[in-house]
Amino acid sequence: MKVAGTVRAPGDKSITHRALLLAALGRGVSHVGGALTSLDARSSARVLRQLGAEISPLHQGRVLVIKGRGRFGAPGRTLNCGNSGTTTRLLLGLLAGHRFTATLTGDASLRRRPMRRVTAPLTEMGARFEERGGDGLPLTVRGGKLRPIRYAMPVSSAQVKSSLLLAGVIGEVPVDLLEPNGRSRDHTERMLRAFGFAVGEKDGWIEFRPGGRIEPFDIQVPGDPSSSAFLVGAAVLAEGGELRIAGVGVNPTRTGFLRVLERMGARIAVHESDTSFGEPVADLIARPATLRGTEVTAGEIPGLIDEIPMLAVLASRAAGETIFRDVGELRIKESDRLGLVAGNIRAVGGKAEVRGEDLHVEGVERPPRGRVRTAADHRIAMAFAVLGTLPGARITIDDMACAAVSFPEFPATLRRIGAGRSR
Ligand code: S3P
Repeated sequence: MKVAGTVRAPGDKSITHRALLLAALGRGVSHVGGALTSLDARSSARVLRQLGAEISPLHQGRVLVIKGRGRFGAPGRTLNCGNSGTTTRLLLGLLAGHRFTATLTGDASLRRRPMRRVTAPLTEMGARFEERGGDGLPLTVRGGKLRPIRYAMPVSSAQVKSSLLLAGVIGEVPVDLLEPNGRSRDHTERMLRAFGFAVGEKDGWIEFRPGGRIEPFDIQVPGDPSSSAFLVGAAVLAEGGELRIAGVGVNPTRTGFLRVLERMGARIAVHESDTSFGEPVADLIARPATLRGTEVTAGEIPGLIDEIPMLAVLASRAAGETIFRDVGELRIKESDRLGLVAGNIRAVGGKAEVRGEDLHVEGVERPPRGRVRTAADHRIAMAFAVLGTLPGARITIDDMACAAVSFPEFPATLRRIGAGRSR
C-alpha cells in the first residue's frame, strides 16, 4: 500500500474552541479562518450563541464571523456541551466571573468526566457550584466577583489551566499556576499575551496578571497536529509513498509525538512556514518507516496526551516493547482510553497491558484482525482505522461515525491518500 499526496488537516480543535470563546467576549466582530467545523466546535458555537454571541454557520472552508457583546448574557436554557470537555471546562472558568446562574450538561461520555478539577479551584476564587451529577455534569454555576488564586494543580491539564486563566481574565484578578509534571498545551497563554495580558513564568509557576483587554480579532487557525497524527501514522505504516500535510500547528507543547516517532525510527520532516497568532505552522512530510519500541516518560505525556492512541497502535507494530509511563489521565478522556487502547490492541491480535499507571505495548508482525470497540471515542476509532490499512488487516470498527467529533473528513481523507481500507 502506498500513502501519498498533499492534504490539509482540519483546523486545530483547541485553538478553535479558544478563538470562539474569546471572540464571544470581545465587543464587536471577529473573524476565524480555518476553524474546525466538527461536532465539538459546533458544541462551543451552540452554547456561546445561547450566551448571547452571534456566530455564522460553521461550514468548512468558510471564515467564521462572530459578533460578541463584551460579556455573556444569562442563558434561557441548559447549556449542552455535547462531547466536548474543553468547551465545558473553559466555559466554567468564564461563567465563574458572570453574575448569573447557568446549568451545563453534555452527552453520556461528558457527563461522566470529572469537573471538580476545575470547580474546586474556581470555588476558591469565589464561584459557587451546585453538583447535579456528582463529580460530573449536569452542574450549575453561579458566578460573581472573583479573588486571585495561587494554585498547584494536581495534574498537568491545559483545560484546568485555561479555565483558571480565563477566570482571571473575566474577574480581572491575578492567577498563579503550577503544573506538576510537564507542560500542557499553552494556546491560551499565547492568545492572552496577544490581547496585552502579562502571562509569564517564575520559578516554574505560570503567572497571569490582568491589564489586557479582549478586543475583536482576526485569526487563521492552523491545522490540528492531533488530527494530523493519524495521517502521519498511516504514512509511517505504508509500504511506499510520501505524504505532505500542509499548514499544521507545530507549537512545541503539541508536537511531542513527532519526537517520540523519531526515537521509534520514523523521520517526519517539518518545514516551518508561517505563524498565526503566536502559533508556529509547518508542513509535515511523512514516509514509511521500520519502527522500534521506546519509553515515553511521564514528563512527555502532557505534550502528546491526545496522540497516545495512535502512538500505541504504532508501537503494536514496532520491534520490541514501548512503555508509556504514568498515563492514568487516559482513563478519564472521552472514554477509558487506557483500557480501550490496550483491550483493542489485544482484540486484534497484538500485545498490550496496563500495569499500574503505565501502558506496555509489544510489537507483533502478524496482520491485525478482529473487532474494535470504540465506546464512541473519536481517537480510538481513528487510531484503529489506521491500523486497518495494513496489508492483510481485517479490522471492524464498531463506530466510525464518532470521528466527526474532531475530524469529520477522516474516512474520506484516508481514502484520498490511498489508505482507505478499514471496514
Ligand atoms: C485540551 C486539553 C487536553 C486534551 C484535550 C484538549 C485543550 O485535555 O486532551 O483534547 O484544548 O485544552 P486535558 O487538559 O484534560 O489534559
